[in-house]
Amino acid sequence: MFFMLRKAFVRHYLIKSMKSFKPNEKIKDNAYIGSIEKYNEIYDYSIKNPEGFWAEQAERISWFKKWGKVWNWDFNKAEISWFEGAKLNACYNCVDRHVENGFGNETALIWEGNNSSENRKLTYDDLLREVQLAANSLKDLGVAKGDRVCIYMQMIPELTIALLACARIGAVHSVVFGAFSPDSLESRINDSECKVLVTQDAGVRGTKTDIPMKKNADETLKNTPSIEKVLVVRRTGSPTEMIRGRDVWWHEAMESADSLCEPEIMDAEDPLFILYTSGSTGKPKGVMHTTGGYMVYTSTTHHYIFDYKPGEIYWCTADIGWITGHSYIVYGPMANRAVTMMFEGVPNYPDYGRFWEIIEKHKVNIFYTAPTALRALMKEGDNWPKKYNLESLRLLGTVGEPIKEPEWMWYHSVIGNERCPIVDTWWQTETGGIMITPLPGVTETEPGSATRPFFGILPQLVDDEGNVLEGNNVEGNLVMERPWPSIMRTVYGDHQRFFDTYFSRFPGKYFSGDGCKRDEKGYYWITGRVDDVIIVSGHNLGTAEIEGSIGRHPDVAEAAVVGYPHEIKGNSIYAFVTLRTGRKITEKTKSEIAKIVRADIGPHATPEKIQFTEGLPKTRSGKIMRRILRNIASDNVDNLGDISTLADPSVVESLVSERI
Ligand code: PRX
Repeated sequence: MFFMLRKAFVRHYLIKSMKSFKPNEKIKDNAYIGSIEKYNEIYDYSIKNPEGFWAEQAERISWFKKWGKVWNWDFNKAEISWFEGAKLNACYNCVDRHVENGFGNETALIWEGNNSSENRKLTYDDLLREVQLAANSLKDLGVAKGDRVCIYMQMIPELTIALLACARIGAVHSVVFGAFSPDSLESRINDSECKVLVTQDAGVRGTKTDIPMKKNADETLKNTPSIEKVLVVRRTGSPTEMIRGRDVWWHEAMESADSLCEPEIMDAEDPLFILYTSGSTGKPKGVMHTTGGYMVYTSTTHHYIFDYKPGEIYWCTADIGWITGHSYIVYGPMANRAVTMMFEGVPNYPDYGRFWEIIEKHKVNIFYTAPTALRALMKEGDNWPKKYNLESLRLLGTVGEPIKEPEWMWYHSVIGNERCPIVDTWWQTETGGIMITPLPGVTETEPGSATRPFFGILPQLVDDEGNVLEGNNVEGNLVMERPWPSIMRTVYGDHQRFFDTYFSRFPGKYFSGDGCKRDEKGYYWITGRVDDVIIVSGHNLGTAEIEGSIGRHPDVAEAAVVGYPHEIKGNSIYAFVTLRTGRKITEKTKSEIAKIVRADIGPHATPEKIQFTEGLPKTRSGKIMRRILRNIASDNVDNLGDISTLADPSVVESLVSERI
């Protein structure tokens, strides 16, 4: 009992901070919303009249033809559409219209290379030229509207250009994060049957100056029958094998491409992109987003949440391999004619001052990063940020996982000098855009809380039986009562899985997979995943996928993977592994297992700890009780909970005594 109380207290204390921060007057005066009263008024309107509200917000997008009905949806069938029948082009919205409106010579993209000596700036004119050439290069390779193009690159300007070029011709891009292994690339290419792959010769990140991107791709391409052509950007000039008839250099294709490419007229519900995310089965899900609603939602949220004003330098440190990069480096900011920054490197190269050096150098005004990066940098002390002038900063943001009070306070005081609002933005690959967040100049913030829903968003908390938890001071599963414009439309090629994953657990509602608490003020506090997804350094990893990979080792009989708290990464991976009878436990087995996972999925999925065990805690029906394993991995062994339903409770004792 004592332990339970202590745990409840510690948890409450950790989640619920006593601190709160009012927006300062200067921010309030200049913000688009600027007061809680105005937020309440707009929020109420957006809930009472969602179609009216979103039709008005949709005016920030240029349409070739307007819609008939704003939305149509039925969560019981997982069917959702927005602005159906309307026509637009995402690339036209991000590039052409700014040029047509006379802003062609304004900066669109600032690129900062891995080494600070390497920089590029592209104006909207430059971007229009490059995007048309790239779009025609893709067409020359046989890509047509509706075809899937896989993009496997590092953070170089051509990555953004490739996305926009696909959008221009109506091809569906599927970006695969550059650190994914050849096997992960292969399964993603095959799942959506991509026709063309865009990659680069080699990548540069931190001390690594020759990441073999094209070589990895070649490995993959042995088993991807749908790929007809490969477009290769020259980044490093490393010796690169090009296969005749299949591989084409980007610069050569651009040289011979036609310079004019009309944007394809797309329906609002035509797919814009697929992005894979981990789920609770072994196979990643191809999250599919469509065009109209996504553009409306990402531009609206970018406008209000980052309170973006023309000319400001906006830097989101995410990789375009993840949804944050899609929505808040490329589509949202560019639709809003922002100056968006892209960084090729890492926060600790050449030293821990790199982020702060970049902020000083480019006079960054709005900075959006992940708690894991903040924890890693905070650990290195205040001298790094103190070496640089960070006065240009006006607004700070975080995303990807719950931010805890120490790093929030450090961000607030050391980076923001107590003057910048922090927007702790909760959202998901599936939601396409930010859902729960403070608004600058409006929300009194509390470290660790994403605070209140954005306009049009109706979150609910439900208990495990699906009963709605009304009022404040409640904790449960976070669901959404109704759709918003950028909600994913399907799992590519598997609509049943879309329904099963998001709409079957609590019928008639979208289930986020997150646990959440609503405090006495009505603020939302995300408590973490309640399903089999672990967030490591902000990356979603499915336990089933890692377990499947470990299971490929010939000595392994069974594996169960859980997350446990890690100082920098937020969570780390702990694998419990049972070997086949008669197989010896050796250090070699451990390193082989780690190697297999690295090769199958990528380095970010490697288990930090591997514990060999005679057996796993299972119910009589054979279900592994992960709750027990999570407690053991987190060293929370005084409070393992009820183990009486286990088939063999004695396994717990040895699991506890042999824990790492
Ligand atoms: O658990 C939540 C966590 O990240 C999950 C979504 O991960 P992903 O699809 O990779 O998208 C990350 C970038 C949007 C969520 O289910 N998460 C994201 N943002 C926050 C968060 N947890 C707490 N606070 C946040 N601000």
